[in-house]
Amino acid sequence: MRTRRAALSAVAGAASLALTLSACGQNSDGGSETDSGSSKGGTIGIAMPTKSSERWIADGNNVKKDLESKGYKTKLVYGEDDPENQVSQIENLITQNVKALIVAAIDNKSLNGVLQQAKDANIPVIAYDRLILGTENVDYYASFDNEKVGRLQGTYIIDKLGLKEGKGPFNIELFAGSNDDNNTKYFFNGAMSVLQPYIDSKKLVVKSGQTKLTQVTTLRWDGATAQRRMDDILTGKYTSGKVDAVLSPYDGISIGILSALKSDGYGSAGKPWPVVTGQDAELASVKSIIAGQQTQTVYKDTRELAKVAGNMVDAVLNDKKPETNDTKTYDNGAKVVPAYLLQPVSIDKSNYQDLIKNGTYSEGDLK
Ligand code: GAL
Repeated sequence: MRTRRAALSAVAGAASLALTLSACGQNSDGGSETDSGSSKGGTIGIAMPTKSSERWIADGNNVKKDLESKGYKTKLVYGEDDPENQVSQIENLITQNVKALIVAAIDNKSLNGVLQQAKDANIPVIAYDRLILGTENVDYYASFDNEKVGRLQGTYIIDKLGLKEGKGPFNIELFAGSNDDNNTKYFFNGAMSVLQPYIDSKKLVVKSGQTKLTQVTTLRWDGATAQRRMDDILTGKYTSGKVDAVLSPYDGISIGILSALKSDGYGSAGKPWPVVTGQDAELASVKSIIAGQQTQTVYKDTRELAKVAGNMVDAVLNDKKPETNDTKTYDNGAKVVPAYLLQPVSIDKSNYQDLIKNGTYSEGDLK
């Protein structure tokens, strides 16, 4: 009897594995697509930007899990950082009669046409983490306090260098995210709101002279692009003197910056690593922080963000008003989008253990 049951459950396991595998394939646009869950509440389309960063993989999985726990089926697609690909993926989701869309945009201005199609099909749209601009057809926005992310990075640099205690002058270089991501200006402006007074008083010196947002963006948040820019700055502007701090908005960019610094001899005796910030607490960067290379990151609990987005969908589809906590900040050019903003947290070597305590990583992950 026991053997038979074990054999049966092994078969059931294999069958469900086969099902999962067959539901997970490439779609015609070259992006990947997963289709799963129970169909009680209908199917929700989830469009994520890229699998090249582990945070978005976790975001996709967390949103799926949350919606499936609420009785929805899900279709999850990744646009692989190609805006046109994302548009056609969303068109496909609309054709497949999804009940609602959760979208983390690749290019914040490329979705107006396709979101009109969603509107015409009566499909509500939740902007996930990144606000979609220039269209009325975005119903709610789930994100973090993005301006605070930047302030946490800027304040960290100020504290670490001892600027408030009158130390300095120090050399700093500034990096920002992708110019087609609405979050970029919030992160940068948040950081500059605290750094600018020290730049004005010359306690912080930007030797490259590149201080305007348009001079420091990094298309698609690409680490290799940031590495090239840092290489150029080091070669062109630091034949004498050293970099004391680098404002980096995102861990993938920080990794590129650290590679450029390493090639230039930083991280060795006599040439210590500068203070380098980041965002997302990605595994490689938390390890880098533990190893004393990257200095700081900003943690955003994407498990919570997934729940916020899932709750918004569930409320809208049940004719209830989703919970919001910000109805002023996020004007997308066509309307102020009601938002629920979560709180980001600064992480460095002194508190990275919190990521183990809250279950984001295990001890083993960080070894
Ligand atoms: C932003 C997001 C950041 C980071 C970045 C690069 O939109 O808010 O947390 O993930 O994209 O992926």
